[in-house]
Amino acid sequence: MKHFVTMKDQSEEIILQLVKRADQISQKGIPPLEKQYFAANLFFEPSTRTKMSFIVAERRLGIEPLDFMAETSSVLKGESIYDTAKTFESIGANFIVIRHTQENVASQLARSLNIPVINAGDGTGEHPTQCLLDLVTIYQELQQFKGLKIVIAGDIKHSRVARSNAFALSTLGCEVLLTGKEEWRDDRLPYRYVTMDEAVEIADVLMLLRIQHERHDQHMVLDQESYLNKYGLTIDREARMKDHAVILHPAPVNRGVEIDSSLVECSRSRIFKQMQNGVAARMAVIESLIEDVQKVQ
Ligand code: NCD
Repeated sequence: MKHFVTMKDQSEEIILQLVKRADQISQKGIPPLEKQYFAANLFFEPSTRTKMSFIVAERRLGIEPLDFMAETSSVLKGESIYDTAKTFESIGANFIVIRHTQENVASQLARSLNIPVINAGDGTGEHPTQCLLDLVTIYQELQQFKGLKIVIAGDIKHSRVARSNAFALSTLGCEVLLTGKEEWRDDRLPYRYVTMDEAVEIADVLMLLRIQHERHDQHMVLDQESYLNKYGLTIDREARMKDHAVILHPAPVNRGVEIDSSLVECSRSRIFKQMQNGVAARMAVIESLIEDVQKVQ
């Protein structure tokens, strides 16, 4: 693997390898790498979990994170994304982690840089490391993927998390179903839609999404309670889920909108477990990219 920018083209074998490695790292840890490496974390969009867990993953591997704040960088002088990334490559970064509002930015950089690029979320495009940590969480819970019914619920159209997960889960043999407001359906994801009431009864995994207001063309005035009752996970719906079924959400969570606030930490919620797995998932990706660079050298 040279880059990690999409789940669309990943083989089942590579995905499973990363899932198992991340699971192993989450249980046993791994010693830091012997050589000195630098990581460029280029976050052009707000981030708490993804950015911080990349930094923890890098430090646990003994890698020095080169922090970057778009608002105090030469981006303010008009420097392009490419020139910014190329600068980090020139000064010795061994790989780039990039989050940006623009779709495909990571794959464009991957084509033009000589160091590995990791997509930490590109607009409404993809979010492959979030997907990997979701997969690790599912694997730890249910020990398999084939035949699982996974329902992705919410603002499908604007969610890069939905897209990466739909691609990877299909590759792994899961049945992917979607649910959400009609205007947020996405033609690029040809999966069956169900209602939220059907979703809770059939799902082995219910993957909730935040409403991505920042990516909507028009600001939507939302009646939170009626949204929750129609499209969200209410206490009544949670009670109808299968015994073994679990709830995932990439967070940040809008409590009382896509999920009743009291369910965020209920016994079938794995929301904080996902965050914990995020560190190991990112370590597994970085390790795999660095190993491949070492093979080339
Ligand atoms: C997601 C993202 O940024 O796409 N969050 C995350 O990385 N944990 C989902 C979201 O913001 O709703």
